[in-house]
Amino acid sequence: MTAEPFVTSSLPADIDTQKLPRHVAVIMDGNGRWAKQQGLPRIMGHRRGVDTLKKLLRTCNDWGVGALTAYAFSTENWGRPLEEVAFLMTLFERVLRQELRDMDKEGVRIQFVGNLQSLPASLQEEIDRAVQQTQSNPGIRFTVATNYGGRQEIVQACRAIATQVQRGQLAPEDIDESLFSHHLYTANLEDPDLLIRTSGEMRLSNFLLWQLAYAELYVTDTLWPDFDPTEFHRALCAYQKRHRRFGKV
Ligand code: FPP
Repeated sequence: MTAEPFVTSSLPADIDTQKLPRHVAVIMDGNGRWAKQQGLPRIMGHRRGVDTLKKLLRTCNDWGVGALTAYAFSTENWGRPLEEVAFLMTLFERVLRQELRDMDKEGVRIQFVGNLQSLPASLQEEIDRAVQQTQSNPGIRFTVATNYGGRQEIVQACRAIATQVQRGQLAPEDIDESLFSHHLYTANLEDPDLLIRTSGEMRLSNFLLWQLAYAELYVTDTLWPDFDPTEFHRALCAYQKRHRRFGKV
């Protein structure tokens, strides 16, 4: 990514601040197809995808969205060709190293969710550095799901809770939704209000299975590298027309 000057943009006039999602989650799909359409190797799609994510993060921060969570790498993505996996790991590391200073200056608080212990050691170091350096920042909370799987997250929460019960630290009747949520990677985050998925696929793909229970879903045919602030504005307009009932009438 190239260094750009910080240009802040204000919330479009037709978006009601009262109806702004507090937490937006994104499944960034279509990088490979975008690259193919351009006659480029798949990895170029991921590179462009980083630019899109960076722009969306800044837009969310400028417009007053409190949290953005992005699905960068799923537990299933290890099944991709070795070179692509290696490229993605190096890309995450390089992006973190290059962008940390700017994100820190803009007040972004970064965190990572997923099974981070299986990531390359050098990436884990960059992650630790980014998390530590930005932990007291006042701006948007930016969560990157890396080596993340929703089912795996639920299973590890069950194990942790079961261990507490086994040790006599917890009674089964103490287990409720709130306690369970606190054993998920996202314990410190409110559930997403809006999930955006690009490239037209109508799936959750093992992303935030518990946390998305009441999220509004927005799927667009636009491929991730083309998902610009105008597209995000469109998603927000659709979101604020929804009537959120949370199962009530
Ligand atoms: C899905 O497109 C995209 C990914 C698996 C990778 C997304 C990662 C980034 C954009 C980088 C984020 C970087 C940081 C540091 C947070 P695809 O390859 O599945 O596209 P296709 O379905 O068209 O093949």
